[in-house]
Amino acid sequence: MKALIFHGKKKVSVDNVPDPKIEKQTDVIIKLTTTNICGSDLHMYEGRTDMKKGRILGHENMGEVVEVGAAVDTVKKGDHISVPFNVGCGFCANCERGLSGFCLTCADPTVMPGMAGAAYGFADMGPYEGGQAQYMRVPYADYNCLQLPPDAEEKHRDYTMLSDIFPTGWHSTRLANLEPGQSIVIFGAGPVGLMAAMSARIQGASQIFVVDGKKDRLELARKIGATPIDTMNGEVGDQIRELTGGYGADCGSECIGYQCHNAKGKEVPNLVMNSLVDAVKATGQIGVIGVFVPKDPDASDDLAKKGQIAFDFGKFWFKGQKMGTGQCNVKTYNRRLRDLIHVGKAQPGIIVSHELPLAQAPDAYQHFDDRDAGWTKVILRPNPA
Ligand SMILES: NC(=O)c1ccc[n+]([C@@H]2O[C@H](COP(=O)([O-])OP(=O)(O)OC[C@H]3O[C@@H](n4cnc5c(N)ncnc54)[C@H](O)[C@@H]3O)[C@@H](O)[C@H]2O)c1
Ligand SMILES: [Zn+2]
Ligand SMILES: [Zn+2]
Repeated sequence: MKALIFHGKKKVSVDNVPDPKIEKQTDVIIKLTTTNICGSDLHMYEGRTDMKKGRILGHENMGEVVEVGAAVDTVKKGDHISVPFNVGCGFCANCERGLSGFCLTCADPTVMPGMAGAAYGFADMGPYEGGQAQYMRVPYADYNCLQLPPDAEEKHRDYTMLSDIFPTGWHSTRLANLEPGQSIVIFGAGPVGLMAAMSARIQGASQIFVVDGKKDRLELARKIGATPIDTMNGEVGDQIRELTGGYGADCGSECIGYQCHNAKGKEVPNLVMNSLVDAVKATGQIGVIGVFVPKDPDASDDLAKKGQIAFDFGKFWFKGQKMGTGQCNVKTYNRRLRDLIHVGKAQPGIIVSHELPLAQAPDAYQHFDDRDAGWTKVILRPNPA
């Protein structure tokens, strides 16, 4: 089959590789209908993780089941399914509690003591190959496959957001403990920040502020119903306080991660975390779903090399704020978000800017990585209809 292979920093190509096989009777194999490029792929693409050369990228996967292991009960050949980016077992202590992003069975225990969580095509998240390919193996298929309704193909641009960014945006608002009628400030108008804005709107936020320095992305935030906040127009905290009676937003979301940068493009890993503490009111809650890593040898400063930031902990404590962090547990949300799409109450696909064949993935990576104007979200169609 053809698959997008990682060959090192900013080097990816579509190569011929062996087809995936059923390895355990609880697996299924899917033929990818749609698979997306994510901001998380860019940390790997830029060589800022220890992603191994030769691996297949892609964790936002959707497809048709073509082969079914003998121990699979609920998934049948021909089913159209969305696959959460997390690989979970369903029976460990964390999966049992709904924390499918922190599976103990599927995690690679050599990454760090107490390691939890696995994902497809991801550095440090187990051996599971990605889905930017024609076919992919899905372990523990009864647990990991979400069935899609008959409009799966017609609404593929919407359903393809169920594997990661729609649940992840939603998760950031839950970690922030947003309640109906409250205001929220979301840092980052990338695909995840835009999904957080859409989620906040569905949940009845009174005011949604989306912060970025990219005009095309801020314009999309406005279309989704948010108030764009341009970092080029001065201190974010000052801008938010002016719009919230002097107090700051009721809660906040971090949707950027450790590679956040200042107006000149220089990475400043503590910039956004400290802006959030400043822009959220006293007692407000903060949800951090942008990725931070335990070590980052290529970082610009010595703290960040060890996965540390100079955090305004004094101000955070003085304001009595709370924080939630980590990978999204996609299974907590994907079934209900699917139903919102099916009945027409959510259209996450409106952020798609490019729908391309797999062959054009290397070019798409380059544009998306450069945050070129208009390259908001790329979805790939690895198997021609
Ligand atoms: N926790 C999870 O489960 C999960 C899932 C998916 C993605 N992620 C992470 O979420 C983050 C965002 O993903 P994405 O696909 O939207 O990525 P993206 O890189 O396309 O978007 C990030 C946006 O942040 C903006 N930005 C950078 N520095 C900024 C600053 N100082 N102030 C304001 N805006 C700034 C950029 O202009 C860009 O628009 C990434 O770190 C990704 O790895 C986490
Ligand atoms: Zn993703
Ligand atoms: Zn588990």
